Amino acid sequence: MRQFLEKDLEGLDKIYRLNLINSCTGYKSANLIGTRSAKGQNNLAVFNSVMHLGSQPALIGFILRPLTVPRHTYSNLKATGYFSINHISQNQIEEAHHTSAKYPEEVSEFDQTELDVENKLSQEIPFVKDAPVQLACQYINEYLIEENDTILIVGKILALYVQENMLGEDGWIRLDQGNVVSINGLDGYALPKLLDRFPYARPKK
Ligand SMILES: Cc1cc2nc3c(=O)[nH]c(=O)nc-3n(C[C@H](O)[C@H](O)[C@H](O)COP(=O)(O)O)c2cc1C
Repeated sequence: MRQFLEKDLEGLDKIYRLNLINSCTGYKSANLIGTRSAKGQNNLAVFNSVMHLGSQPALIGFILRPLTVPRHTYSNLKATGYFSINHISQNQIEEAHHTSAKYPEEVSEFDQTELDVENKLSQEIPFVKDAPVQLACQYINEYLIEENDTILIVGKILALYVQENMLGEDGWIRLDQGNVVSINGLDGYALPKLLDRFPYARPKK
């Protein structure tokens, strides 16, 4: 095994450290967050930090980078109070990745990629057409992570759309049926394969 001590990490080349630390926590969720500006401009950006916060009420969170540069997802969701979360499927990875490019506020990533917008529920929540799972969320709160000035955004799920063939009888969403990808680090996209499911775990007798 290669060993990296804290002092080694500090001395690493910037890109090497970024890759190492971004991939050392394991596979991450792959989502496109859609928002609309107060002027009605759609915005789309890839995020690998969307996480489950609780199911009753249905809450999600994601981490936003420091506000040292304009963050359109953030300014839009603060302006309207809403955003969409769209799972990325295998055939969308290249276009999804491109949404991380820095476009000016007046340019929509929907126009710069092959990804199409889907309007439903509310004009203020643009969805990604053909995303196998889509969530409509309402901004609830945010928490500054003081250690590095990132922000935990907390959202409530207002509506959930799931491709029919992915939804099990018990409510479980079988992600591989929708070819939903996950993210390895900051630029690697993987297609996970389901191995098994297990009943609720209880202590052994
Ligand atoms: C794979 C990948 C994952 C990313 N995850 C996040 C993330 O979790 N949080 C974040 O703030 N930015 C993340 N980014 C960067 C944003 O996609 C990028 O800053 C984008 O330009 C933001 O767009 P916006 O200004 O329209 O919100 C990620 C980029 C890539 C390539």
